[in-house]
Amino acid sequence: MSEKTFSAMVVREAGEKKYERKIEERSIADLPEGEVLIRVLYSSLNYKDALSAIGNKGVTRNYPHTPGIDAAGTVEKSDHPDFKAGDRVLVTGYDLGMNTSGGFGQYIRVPAEWVIPIPEKLSYSKSMAFGTAGLTAALSVIHLEDRGIAPQGGPVLVTGASGGVGSLAVSFLAAAGYDVAAVTGKAEARDFLTNIGAKTIVGREEVTDTSQRPLLKSQWAGVVDTVGGDILSTAIRSTKLHGSITCCGNAASGDLPLTVYPFILRGVNLLGVDSQNCTRDMRLRIWDRLASEWNLPHIDDITKEVPLADLSPHIDEILKAQKMGRTIVKVG
Ligand SMILES: NC(=O)c1ccc[n+]([C@@H]2O[C@H](COP(=O)([O-])OP(=O)(O)OC[C@H]3O[C@@H](n4cnc5c(N)ncnc54)[C@H](OP(=O)(O)O)[C@@H]3O)[C@@H](O)[C@H]2O)c1
Repeated sequence: MSEKTFSAMVVREAGEKKYERKIEERSIADLPEGEVLIRVLYSSLNYKDALSAIGNKGVTRNYPHTPGIDAAGTVEKSDHPDFKAGDRVLVTGYDLGMNTSGGFGQYIRVPAEWVIPIPEKLSYSKSMAFGTAGLTAALSVIHLEDRGIAPQGGPVLVTGASGGVGSLAVSFLAAAGYDVAAVTGKAEARDFLTNIGAKTIVGREEVTDTSQRPLLKSQWAGVVDTVGGDILSTAIRSTKLHGSITCCGNAASGDLPLTVYPFILRGVNLLGVDSQNCTRDMRLRIWDRLASEWNLPHIDDITKEVPLADLSPHIDEILKAQKMGRTIVKVG
C-alpha cells in the first residue's frame, strides 16, 4: 500500500514569484498523517484553489503542493471507528488544499473530524457541485434567516452573482421565495441568472457608490456579498432598517470603506461567514438541507465537469472572473 502511487496536480515554485502546475505521479506514503485515507473521485474548483495554484502564501505557505479544498470519494482505509472502507464521504475546508494535500489528487489523508458522510440522495458529483461554494451560500442564507430576513421583507441583493457562491445563493434564495436582485459584471450572465431565479439583474456600476456618503437610499432587506470593497460598502449603506448583510469574500477587494452610521442609524447587521472552520454540527445540518429542500433541480445546468488533466485553463478562467456557476473536477 505505502508504495502505491496516484495522479495529482502539483504546483511547484519555478523561480521568483513564478509557479508551475502539472499532473504528476505522487506516492501515498508522502501524504500527511491522518486517520482516514480517501480515494478521491470528484473535487470542485473554488476561488481559493486558484490562489493556491498561483503561489498565494496567504493560502498555501509551502510548495510543492496539491490544491483542492473540496473532495468526495470512498474511504480506502480508516483508523477511526466512525468510518470503514467503502464509505461514501466528502471533505470541504479545514486545512484541505491549503497546507494539507488536497482534492486535486486521487488520494487524500485527513483527520476523521473533517470527514462528512455523503447524504444518500446526493451522488459524488452532485455533492461537489455544491462543495465549499454550496456550504458558504447555505451559511449565508441561514445567517439571514436567523436574523429574521423573510421573503415578505423585500428584495435581497446577491453580489458576484454569476460566480460559484453567488449563483448558489441566488438559487437557494429564489427557491425559498425571496425576490433576488443579482449583481453581475458579465453582460452574458443575464439569461443564466434569470434561469436560476433572479428577479432583477443589476450591473456592478449601479451598486458601486464611491461618494463617501454615509447612507444611501434604503433598498435591500438583506444582502449576500461575495466581493467586498466598494460594492459591499454600497450594499451596507443601502440596506433597510434592521436589515442584514453577510460577508464571505474579497473577489473585488479586501477593503471596506465605511462609517458607523448604517449600524447606529439603521441598526443593520454585518454578519461574517466562514465555511472553512464551520462546526461539524452545522455542516451536518447544511448537508441535510442540500440533499432535500436545497437539492436544486437545475444544479446540473449550472455545473461544468472537467477531467483533472484539463483543469489548468479553468484555474486561469476563475482568476480572470470569467467563470459562471460551478466547475467540478473528475479526479478518479
Ligand atoms: N468565507 C468563506 O467561507 C468563503 C467560502 C468560499 C468562498 N469565499 C470567497 O468568496 C468569493 C467568491 O468565491 P467563488 O468561489 O464563488 O468565486 P468565483 O466563482 O470566482 O465568483 C466570484 C465572482 O465575483 C465577481 N467578481 C470577480 N471579480 C470582481 C471584481 N473585481 N469586482 C466585482 N465583482 C467581481 C464575479 O461575478 P460577476 O461577474 O457575476 O459579477 C465572479 O464570478 C471569493 O472571494 C472567495 O475567496 C469565502
